[in-house]
Amino acid sequence: MRTLWVETATTRYPIQIGSGLLKRLPVLLEEVEWTPPKRLMVVTDTHVAPLYLERVIASLTKAGYSVGSWVIPAGETSKSLSMVEQMAGEAIRQGLDRKSGILALGGGVVGDAAGFLAATYMRGIPFVQLPTTLLAHDSSVGGKVGVNHPLGKNMVGAFHQPDLVVFDVDTLKSLPAREMAAGFAEVIKEALIRDDSFVSWLEENRDGLMAKDPALLAEAIERGCRIKAEVVSQDEKESGLRAILNYGHTIGHALEAVTGYRRFIHGEAVAIGMVGAAMLGETLGLAHDVSGRTRRLIQSFELPVQAREAAEADALIRAMRRDKKSDQGSLTFVLPRKIGSVEIVKEVPEAAVRQVLSRLEGEMG
Ligand SMILES: NC(=O)c1ccc[n+]([C@@H]2O[C@H](COP(=O)([O-])OP(=O)(O)OC[C@H]3O[C@@H](n4cnc5c(N)ncnc54)[C@H](O)[C@@H]3O)[C@@H](O)[C@H]2O)c1
Ligand SMILES: [Zn+2]
Repeated sequence: MRTLWVETATTRYPIQIGSGLLKRLPVLLEEVEWTPPKRLMVVTDTHVAPLYLERVIASLTKAGYSVGSWVIPAGETSKSLSMVEQMAGEAIRQGLDRKSGILALGGGVVGDAAGFLAATYMRGIPFVQLPTTLLAHDSSVGGKVGVNHPLGKNMVGAFHQPDLVVFDVDTLKSLPAREMAAGFAEVIKEALIRDDSFVSWLEENRDGLMAKDPALLAEAIERGCRIKAEVVSQDEKESGLRAILNYGHTIGHALEAVTGYRRFIHGEAVAIGMVGAAMLGETLGLAHDVSGRTRRLIQSFELPVQAREAAEADALIRAMRRDKKSDQGSLTFVLPRKIGSVEIVKEVPEAAVRQVLSRLEGEMG
């Protein structure tokens, strides 16, 4: 088991990563620095519940906790205010008080929605994340929780740090290949923005990682979380540095928006966006020889590196200017300096972005 302590301005909490950890959950809960909650509500989704809910409830019940559960429909549409209202109703019916805990068993959707419930229920109660997707390593650091609004993704939310994160890498065995690859996109991102030795490590261990070797997965998750934690701890409320975590996301978010969030899952769009950002860095003369290696790495994890939708340059550029991370409609990008290092560049010329989009459309050179 690997333990990574995340320090925030207000608190610190451990991320435990390894094999067979769901079985050991009661022991791990006992090590947390808190008044231990007696009553717990496990929130999960309809895909994860049949796979892992029973064993979580059984081990906690055996350890003397009063445990209830609530299963939300799998999928992004569950990240809604009406779902939070239903969950809050269930929490009240199950008798959760200020000292009770919410456990989020699932991917980022469950973590964000259940985390928002934990942030707001009785003005905030203890919260434990049990991620079951690779992507959720990302959402388990940083304390952002929230839901979507019909008018925009992640529009209603809060900061609420978990008290504990337990990442049992065995749960990834059942994760579909496409979701696995999308999670690797964020791991690759963390390496590309901060740590060239991690990039080399990903290149060298690609086969074992794709075969879901538990020890390698635990190492990749720990290194990814460590990078995110380090960036976030230097900038907890997102003023400057934290923006580098949006590497690949300017084009990525635009691709998701323009295709109505149906064509790509998030990590796939980010993968294409990172290739675009690498090419843009070269076009602007900020970096040399980064896009070839970036593209090869991303492709080796079976992620897309191009999209015919990149042809919709007008719509994509409009979406980039509207992005909530963009500065008053200017084209802001996180761009590479070299492998393992990036910078934030404001007012990127539209012509350069258009040139990159046309290359992302299909050309491979
Ligand atoms: N809070 C943050 O900082 C943060 C960061 C990144 C992403 N997010 C959010 O996370 C969400 C995406 O997360 P995600 O990719 O984990 O999506 P998800 O939670 O929808 O999970 C993806 C799919 O995999 C299924 N699944 C989950 N675990 C499984 C397992 N072990 N075996 C089989 N199937 C499993 C789910 O039911 C779902 O169908 C988005 O809403 C995004 O906004 C939040
Ligand atoms: Zn992302």
